[in-house]
Amino acid sequence: MICLGNICRSPIAEGVLREFAKRAGLGHEIEVDSAGFVRAHLGQAPDSRAIAVAKRHGIDISSLRQRLFTPTDFDAFDIIFVMDDGNYRSVQSYARNNQDMRKVKYLSNELYPNENRTIPDPYYGDKDDFEYAYCFIEEACAAFINNLKK
Ligand code: 4NP
Repeated sequence: MICLGNICRSPIAEGVLREFAKRAGLGHEIEVDSAGFVRAHLGQAPDSRAIAVAKRHGIDISSLRQRLFTPTDFDAFDIIFVMDDGNYRSVQSYARNNQDMRKVKYLSNELYPNENRTIPDPYYGDKDDFEYAYCFIEEACAAFINNLKK
């Protein structure tokens, strides 16, 4: 799971997908991680508002720690989910070949195929923006699990 800061959207997505995989009995089949591109928050816990919105929905992301995306993520993971066009271009700038890029997908496309919709960054927003991002991420992760099962 990739976003810009790796302190709001992608740690939420990491926590949600891990929980949904577990509930679907796929907890040992799917490895989930998240990363971003902003150095300023290296090693930090998610934004307190991201922790709070996840907690309200029963998911604990407080132990996650910010890290940077690295090209070795293309080797370690089968799918690289991005939240918006900026993330897509950032990941693209690290891709070594077409095979790397084939792994890069918009998380929102699980719900709205081929539309490349943005999951908006709530960082400069308020509690409602975090709630909106959370619900979008949750629905997209649920759709991903369903699509996987199919
Ligand atoms: P995120 O939000 O990409 O959803 O984690 C952001 C968090 C921090 C920054 C940007 C976006 N930042 O520039 O510090």
